Amino acid sequence: MTRNNPQIVLRRRPSGRPVADDFEFVVNQVPELEDGQVCVEVGHLGIDAFIRTTLEEESFHQGAQIGGVIPALGVGRVVESRFDGLEPGDHVFGPLCSQTYAVMPGAMLRKIDVSRVSPTAWLGALGLTTGLTAYVGMTRVAKVKTDDVVVVSAAAGAVGSMAGQIARLLGASKVIGIAGGPTKCEFLVKELGYHAAIDYRNDDVESRLRELAPQGIDVFFDNVGGDVLDAVLLNIKEGTRVVICGAISQYDDMSNVRGPRNYLKLAERHAVMAGFAVFHFTDTYDEGEARLADWFVDGSLVMPEHVEVGVERFPAALDILMSGGHTGKLLVKVSSD
Ligand SMILES: NC(=O)c1ccc[n+]([C@@H]2O[C@H](COP(=O)([O-])OP(=O)(O)OC[C@H]3O[C@@H](n4cnc5c(N)ncnc54)[C@H](OP(=O)(O)O)[C@@H]3O)[C@@H](O)[C@H]2O)c1
Repeated sequence: MTRNNPQIVLRRRPSGRPVADDFEFVVNQVPELEDGQVCVEVGHLGIDAFIRTTLEEESFHQGAQIGGVIPALGVGRVVESRFDGLEPGDHVFGPLCSQTYAVMPGAMLRKIDVSRVSPTAWLGALGLTTGLTAYVGMTRVAKVKTDDVVVVSAAAGAVGSMAGQIARLLGASKVIGIAGGPTKCEFLVKELGYHAAIDYRNDDVESRLRELAPQGIDVFFDNVGGDVLDAVLLNIKEGTRVVICGAISQYDDMSNVRGPRNYLKLAERHAVMAGFAVFHFTDTYDEGEARLADWFVDGSLVMPEHVEVGVERFPAALDILMSGGHTGKLLVKVSSD
């Protein structure tokens, strides 16, 4: 059966913030399957910060090729299979990329159970690069414990939304979110249960944090880097754990990444800074997924979604991600799940 495959491909590598002309909408044909392959109709794509870094010539994650589709994790349904473990109708999660149909080895996909949670929850609340990342960061790297004072940056985004809620569920006595603008700060407190919020676009982060946590902070879960990281470093105390989850403020200019100016505070205050990537903690996935699913199903944590509709919205969605035009998990709906 011949199928058209509407896709977004990379036309050229962005210089700074990606613009529409860096991408192209094309319609290709879905190829015949080879042994071991499946064809998946993409339901939703997660728009993750790592996608921006794959647009560079050299990137930590496998990079996008000029003329090729752009790496993105997604959920969808198998429509054709020549792989023993999957059959048409199965719901799957995997690196489906910026397209309508993904043809790939079945071994690269994971069959997901959508009886308890929706398919999009496998990208958000339970998602490898969202819920699981926040869970691993808070439990295994920050090792949050009862009565900790925890600060999270990019707190209204996908990872940040989950990180703050997880810290609260682990017993933190105060969870403070940093986000851009009063609406997001209100969202943090009213929708996500953060105890307080700092608007980094309008507040002085350093002095506001001193007011909110006069004894200093125990954990900083950083998604942003740059000026925000520097401001928080001025408020660490003896033994603070600074966790580097990411540094989105740097991703538009990866050849000139700016390190923290105030890193000597780590030495002065006998504090530690540790980075991690979620896939360093595969041994935590089962435990994390089980706990996240329980919390999500019983309503202890929520994962708001911002959905852009149509694969052609992929470049616009990436711009929304980088400029912070969303709250919670940003998704592109390609077809029905
Ligand atoms: N370590 C890992 O394994 C791992 C895995 C997944 C993700 N991550 C990291 O987690 C972070 C969040 O990723 P995500 O996919 O969940 O994205 P996201 O938080 O949903 O979206 C990114 C957010 O970053 C904020 N932001 C953008 N530029 C900023 C700047 N210059 N200064 C301050 N804030 C800025 C924006 O919110 P505002 O409106 O508040 O500015 C935006 O909403 C990224 O750093 C990513 O690399 C790490």
